[in-house]
Amino acid sequence: MRTASRLDDVEESATLKVTRRAAELKAAGRRILSFGAGEPDFDSPPVAVEAARDALRSGFTRYTQANGIPELRSALADRYRKDYGSPWTADQFIITVGGKAALFELAMALFESGDEVIVPTPCWVSFPDQIRLAGATPVLVPMAPEDGFQIKAEPIVAAITPRTRAIIVNSPCNPTGGILERADLEGLVAAAAAAGVHVVTDETYESFLYDGRRFASGASLAAQYPETIILVGSFSKTYAMTGWRVGYAAGPPEVIEAMGRIQGHMTSNPTSFAMVGALAALRDGGPQVVAMTAEFEARRDLLVAGLALLPGVTCPPPAGAFYAFPDVSGLRRQGLGGSLDIAEFFLEEANVAVVPGIAFGNDDHLRLSFACSRENIEEGLQAMREALARRLD
Ligand SMILES: Cc1ncc(COP(=O)(O)O)c(C=O)c1O
Repeated sequence: MRTASRLDDVEESATLKVTRRAAELKAAGRRILSFGAGEPDFDSPPVAVEAARDALRSGFTRYTQANGIPELRSALADRYRKDYGSPWTADQFIITVGGKAALFELAMALFESGDEVIVPTPCWVSFPDQIRLAGATPVLVPMAPEDGFQIKAEPIVAAITPRTRAIIVNSPCNPTGGILERADLEGLVAAAAAAGVHVVTDETYESFLYDGRRFASGASLAAQYPETIILVGSFSKTYAMTGWRVGYAAGPPEVIEAMGRIQGHMTSNPTSFAMVGALAALRDGGPQVVAMTAEFEARRDLLVAGLALLPGVTCPPPAGAFYAFPDVSGLRRQGLGGSLDIAEFFLEEANVAVVPGIAFGNDDHLRLSFACSRENIEEGLQAMREALARRLD
């Protein structure tokens, strides 16, 4: 069977092997302690559930405007204006089937053969493949592990060439938890604007920042650089609404219009009643987000403290998101190979599922999600400690 050649360079996820093996072990009756989840383990806000239920009951079950319900686009425009002073009107927002669809539509709308798109790495698995699917070339710029993979403007700006079409930054970052500080955001956007390059800010994890840090949103520079900034956001992680599939983008009218044309031929509107639930979450879900963030911070501290006790493992505390990204290259001295090998070792010998860093472009690290219970974290750390002690004996 022949598939289209555009798929030739699109890789199967390196995480799948470990995920598949974890599923096999579970099916065979083993209890697996998982650090794999890329989603909050909390319930969606009750206000969202009630609003979606009411919408269903009242028959709000038909197609809506293809770009999403005006009430939600308006509420988002108000929120970003109030929080960050952005100039975007409701028409400059498009509601999409998760942030993933927004990023995909953006890639289709903006990138083509001959274009380069800069992505700091380690990065979320879908960025490079979405860029490739659009026919363009991802230019991966490594960030430094020493400072927890903080996203720095300088190496990114140095990678701009006449072919660069856009820079995609994801702060806080999946998988590293690294963030883009305000000064770096400003430097990056100013340089990109001067070069006529778009900056796409993927703000999927915007709510989850720790140690009192403040989030630097692309929206805060949109008034100054209206042609440059394109923001992607999502209800998935912020409100524990991953399965609802509601995300959005905001930016220059021409870009949003082009995305709308693509969405009109692809998904049409996101699910009608899910958007009503998202609107309720946006209006009244704030307290739950604050509580979730505080719990994630406590879990982060627990996980980072435990990882520090593992021989051959180092992990600066992640500044944001809900992932730790420890350096496990020290385990090579114990005869373990790359991150895939190490992930397999923890799965087979400790019943602990983690994601190998190679999936995100870095073979010296593992990704551990702390969107799981404190008990899971404590038990998992102990099992890893014991497995390593057995190996070192
Ligand atoms: C960095 C990043 N961007 C975007 C997404 C897309 O999330 P969703 O499509 O659920 O909004 C994810 C999900 O894991 C992510 O980690």
